[in-house]
Amino acid sequence: MTNSWADLAGRLGVDLLLDVDTAPGVRGRRTALAAALRSAITDGRLTPGTALPPYRSLAADLQMARGTVAGVYQELIAEGWLVARVGSATRVADLAHPVSTPRARPEPSPAPSHDFCLGQPQPALFPRTDWIRSTRRVVGTAANSAFGIGDPQGHPATRRSLAAYLGRVRGVRTDEHHIVLTTGVSQSLELLSRSVFGDAVAVESHGLPFHREVIERSGTRVRPIPIDRDGLDVGRLAASSLTGVVLTPSHQYPTGHALAPRRRATLVDWARERGGVIVEDDYDGELRYDRDPIGAVQGLAPDDVIYLGSASKALSPAVRIGWMVVPDRLLADVLHAKGSREATASVLDQMVFADLIDSGAYDRHVRRSRSYYRARRDALTETMRNRGVECSGVSAGLHAVLTVSRAMEPQILSVAADRGFVVAGLDGFRHPDAEPSPSGGIVVGFSTPPKHRFQADVAALADLVATALANDSTTSTVAAKSMHLSVTDCP
Ligand SMILES: Cc1ncc(COP(=O)(O)O)c(C=O)c1O
Repeated sequence: MTNSWADLAGRLGVDLLLDVDTAPGVRGRRTALAAALRSAITDGRLTPGTALPPYRSLAADLQMARGTVAGVYQELIAEGWLVARVGSATRVADLAHPVSTPRARPEPSPAPSHDFCLGQPQPALFPRTDWIRSTRRVVGTAANSAFGIGDPQGHPATRRSLAAYLGRVRGVRTDEHHIVLTTGVSQSLELLSRSVFGDAVAVESHGLPFHREVIERSGTRVRPIPIDRDGLDVGRLAASSLTGVVLTPSHQYPTGHALAPRRRATLVDWARERGGVIVEDDYDGELRYDRDPIGAVQGLAPDDVIYLGSASKALSPAVRIGWMVVPDRLLADVLHAKGSREATASVLDQMVFADLIDSGAYDRHVRRSRSYYRARRDALTETMRNRGVECSGVSAGLHAVLTVSRAMEPQILSVAADRGFVVAGLDGFRHPDAEPSPSGGIVVGFSTPPKHRFQADVAALADLVATALANDSTTSTVAAKSMHLSVTDCP
């Protein structure tokens, strides 16, 4: 029989495993128990204040003499590890860690003073009440079968709701049978790399490095194709031998330009003639502010486009829900890569998401978010304009690009970092084999600063950039050119 601390989990209220059986003889077991308790306290498994079981029960559980266990308690009390009070349990002492402390956690780095980081919506906007309401409804009414192993293609009702939603809002032409649910765009890219891309795929010269890494880790090389103010240079794509391309046509990430209508048509022609596949990352398609909403490329060519989206921008990146809309001819391969049962996504969350859409709460949330971010976008562009700083890429999404010269970009980033600003440089998104873009840029996520700091943070950033530009003798010519390139996107 094994006498171990596992037997004591219920009494201690903590899960603590320790075998004291290995020590031979009564003295050996007494010493082993004392040592085990000391080390459990030292390494933090028994925390200050934790009540130990009465020595009689512990003795019974460990099949040791009561006197032996009582002796161990006395010894540890005398050493200061435990404290005993009349009428109360023997507890772990507050001094707690006289020998060594548990593995130290790294100190959290100090919060940045001006946080314009990219990649997430304003967390305070998350529709908590609606999410709770949908969760209550789903969990309360779902059939028992819903709590079993999930369909790897995604919960059918969610795919149905999403097909209707994407058709209505983004002009996507699909049905529930062609939607595959994932945990986000990242997982979608990983699956496509394993099933569709083959040896190499084209990407935009500037994009999210994390996504390039995901694709390469999954076995596909990424080849950069230049971009400009009209989006991906489709002519350069056609000149390559590649048969697949991943791009962000509605709002290029990070420059913010849209793929020009002429290029959208040429891209579709390219896919048809080449037998190629267009992978459209529509990461912030719902958050458009000015122009008539640009529909998804998928709507033009459902047989040639794999459409990707996720809840990460409109809702939260903490909700790991993403989707792919896959043409018939590629569906079997993609589903094969997904596997025979759902292994990573929460089907329960998929169901909650469907309820959020069906109840209208998701539309309401997106509308509310859009007007919130539009106001921020307007405040940012106006403040920058008043200081002579041009910004582009702001007709959609959660970030803007401030135009600076290529030479100034690293200098501004360095000053910004010293002063507690979190911003990114355009060049940080460049594929290492790609040419630098003609002008530099400071990429600013305007969703992140908390409400009470937003105006002040934006004013401080405008001040920093305007001062740097004024002190730079090379700026006037280079920035003037860049301003000319990007001014059409400013409101
Ligand atoms: C270009 C781009 N696509 C997609 C996403 C969303 O990725 P995921 O759905 O994996 O959270 C992001 C998030 O930052 C992004 O920047």
